[in-house]
Formats: sequence, C-alpha cells, structure tokens
Amino acid sequence: MAQPQVLGPSLRDKIKNRTALVGVVGLGYVGLPFAVEKAKVGFRVVGIEQNPERAAKVNRGQNYIGDVKDEELTEAVSSGLIVAETGFDRVPELDVIVVCVPTPLNENLAPDLQYVEGVTREIAARLRPGQLVSLESTTYPGTCEEVMLPILESSGLKVEEDFFLAHSPERVDPGNRRYTTKNTHKVVGGVGPKSLEAAVAFYDETILNVVPVSSAKAAELTKVFENTFRAVNIALVNELTLLCDRMGLNVWEVLEAAYTKPFGIMPFYPGPGVGGHCIPLDPHYLEWKARELNFTTRFIGLAGEINRRMPEFVVEKAARCLNGAGLALSRSRIFALGAAYKRDIDDWRESPAVAVMRLLVEQGAKVSYHDPHVPSFSEHGLSLTSSSLTPEALEAADLVVVLTDHTAVDYGLVAGTARLALDTRNALKGLGGNVVAL
Ligand SMILES: NC(=O)c1ccc[n+]([C@@H]2O[C@H](COP(=O)([O-])OP(=O)(O)OC[C@H]3O[C@@H](n4cnc5c(N)ncnc54)[C@H](O)[C@@H]3O)[C@@H](O)[C@H]2O)c1
Repeated sequence: MAQPQVLGPSLRDKIKNRTALVGVVGLGYVGLPFAVEKAKVGFRVVGIEQNPERAAKVNRGQNYIGDVKDEELTEAVSSGLIVAETGFDRVPELDVIVVCVPTPLNENLAPDLQYVEGVTREIAARLRPGQLVSLESTTYPGTCEEVMLPILESSGLKVEEDFFLAHSPERVDPGNRRYTTKNTHKVVGGVGPKSLEAAVAFYDETILNVVPVSSAKAAELTKVFENTFRAVNIALVNELTLLCDRMGLNVWEVLEAAYTKPFGIMPFYPGPGVGGHCIPLDPHYLEWKARELNFTTRFIGLAGEINRRMPEFVVEKAARCLNGAGLALSRSRIFALGAAYKRDIDDWRESPAVAVMRLLVEQGAKVSYHDPHVPSFSEHGLSLTSSSLTPEALEAADLVVVLTDHTAVDYGLVAGTARLALDTRNALKGLGGNVVAL
C-alpha cells in the first residue's frame, strides 16, 4: 500500500530482508500460529511465554495448538527460526514485539488488563529506539494510547520519534481450515503515521491483505465491534429459538428457510449458548468503555443476557423431554456429546456445553460425556473424563444431549441407538430416532 515514507530506513529494510528479529509475547491460540507464520517466511522469532511448560514444548518442537501444523512447528524450531523463552531478557535484541496475551474480564465484567499492563512494563524496562510494539490482543478502544503508551514512554523514549506503537487485532477463527492467519484480512492502526507505516510494513510480509485504519483506537473498535456483531446475531437466533419453543415450531426449519434469501440476511445458528474467550467477553470491553463516556450499549447487554440464559433453557428442555418419558431429571443418566465451545476444536473455556453439564449435575442427574477433542475438563468443582462413544454408553443413557457438533462423531450411531436425544446443534437432522430439536 502507498504510504508516505516517514519511517526510518533501518526497520523497513530489516523487515524486507528478514533480518528483523520478531518477538511474540504469549504463545497461545493467537501467538503460536502467528510465530509459525512469521517463521515460515524466514523471520527469526523469539517467543516469550510465561508458562514454562509451553515454552519447553515449543523448544522441543512439540505442538499444543490445533491450528498449528505439527510439522511446521517442528521445522521452524529445528531450523532455529523459533525459540521460546520464559523471560524478557532478549527484548533489546528484538525489532518487532507482538503482544498476544489474554484480555479477560474480572468478576464485575470489567476489563482485566493485568497481562497487557504487566507485559508492557517488562517491555518498557528494556525498550530501545527503533522498535515496533504491536498489540494483537482484543481490547477496548483506547488501550494502546491510554494504557500502553504512558507505560512505554516512562522509559524516556518518545513514540513516533524513537519507537512505534500499533494495534492489529487478531481475527483467527480456531478450527477454520479455510481462513487462517495468512489469508484473513488484517486491520492495522497506529498511534501515529510512523507507527502505522511500520506496522503495515511488518504485516504486509505475511498477511495477504492488510487494511490500514487511521488510528489504533479505530482498529481496537473494529475488532470489538466484529465480536459484538456475532454476539448480537447469535442472541437474535437464540431468542427466536425460545419463541419457537413456545410456538411449537422447529427453529432450524425456520432458519433454513430464511437463509434461502440470497440478500439481506446472513446465517447465524442457535445453540446452548456462546463460549470461548471472545464472544462472551469482548463485547463487555466495549460496554465498559462506553459507560465511561456515559453511553449505554443496549444491544450488548441484551445479547449477553439472552446468550447466558441458553444453558438453563437447554436443561429446562432436557427436563421436559425426560418428563415426557416419565422420568425425573434428578434420577436420570445423561450422556452429553461435546464439551468444547464449538465444532472441531479442543477449547472448553467458557463453554456452554460445560455450563449445561454443570447445571444437569446440580439438578441431580448422573452425567457422562464424549468429546473427541476434550479428553477431560475441570471447572467450578466439576471434573469429568471423556467416555468412549459406544452403543452401550448411548443405550445406557436416559437422554443423550448433543452440545457440540464435532464432525468426528458418528451421528447415525447416536440417532439410531439413543433412547431419547435432545439436539442443540441440529446434528441429528434427518437421521431418524427419538430426537427432540432445541
Ligand atoms: N483464541 C482466539 O480465538 C482469539 C481470536 C482472536 C483474538 N483473540 C485474543 O487474543 C488474545 C490472546 O488470546 P489467546 O486465545 O491466544 O490466549 P491464550 O490463553 O491461548 O494464550 C495467551 C498466552 O499468553 C501467555 N501469557 C500470559 N501472560 C504472559 C506474560 N506476562 N508473559 C508472557 N506470556 C504470557 C499465557 O501463558 C498463554 O500461553 C486475547 O486478547 C484474545 O481475546 C483470541
């Protein structure tokens, strides 16, 4: 892209000729794929990961993130392009520092920026002229300018003169084989024009389409808006599900028909709720920031309310299904299919499937589960280990509840064997059997 040539030659040249040393702070779902992508085009990458087990695994070339190809990580590590450290000692050697640490909420649903702030302090203590710092973590508009910048400038160096600061939100969709870090458009905003130019130069090397915006704040808002868009639209179809339940209609049939319209509509699907570390959390970052400006983001509050209610609705519907068969939930054996928050991934953080299982156990049901991607989980005192998906396990259950629609599951077996099934994902559609749709 054509930008004014305001950036000093050294960083641009180093990026172009691959001598720039890239630091990636936080080697999780976002950081590790990013590090591998950079190594694939010839950059040397230093991963800074506070979890010593993860750092050691990386250094052994041992992959732990589904979106990373095992052989690509092994190749990058064995050729010396990726090395992981647990501390920040090598920061002065780095030319670009990409921050990919968690941005959770605290117990009051307010942003918890302790990881971003902590990492920024570590970087500030070692900052040297010429470096680019780019935040990839999802956050509220203003984080770069209001939180990171003062910490970085406490080093005595000035942004735009001595160093560069940008935000480029990660959009990775775990488990998505079609859109990866490389072929997903990348929005970039700098705290000034030099920061933008530096960040665009850097991302242009590995990402097919870089989308510059006028400020870091605009980039920050872009990302939280995207996740809010999903949260709101999922809430809309979840609300329709609650209404269809009252009306005795099948929501999946209605949606399928609605989505035949070739314009003016976009498919979203209902389910047992929203999960992962994005959709349930990120909109609250925006809600919190808006409150600071005395502005109420009503859609966000409403969507959160509806989506959070879905696990309870699933349990309510499970109890109704069992009642219909003359059984009480409190004395039933329930076999849940899926613990991950969505299809074909191993992430059960904030998973609505786990929330449903917890509520079922609280109501006295005996719960077991099968998830080909989640061998076990432990949350809020509920610890379960995945059972095998066998005809015996299905037959033994009073109710089978499909909570995640992993493709590796034999749904024909499920529909054909379960005595009664509640399907929250429409995975058993058209397979016969005694199936109740959400
Ligand atoms: N997972 C996704 O699908 C996704 C998609 C887009 C954006 N994001 C955003 O990206 C950010 C990171 O998410 P993630 O899913 O990769 O999280 P993650 O928990 O998988 O990875 C974060 C890593 O950072 C490490 N870490 C924490 N504090 C550290 C410190 N002080 N120094 C070094 N390492 C530290 C953790 O040990 C962990 O390995 C979040 O803001 C998230 O909202 C995530």
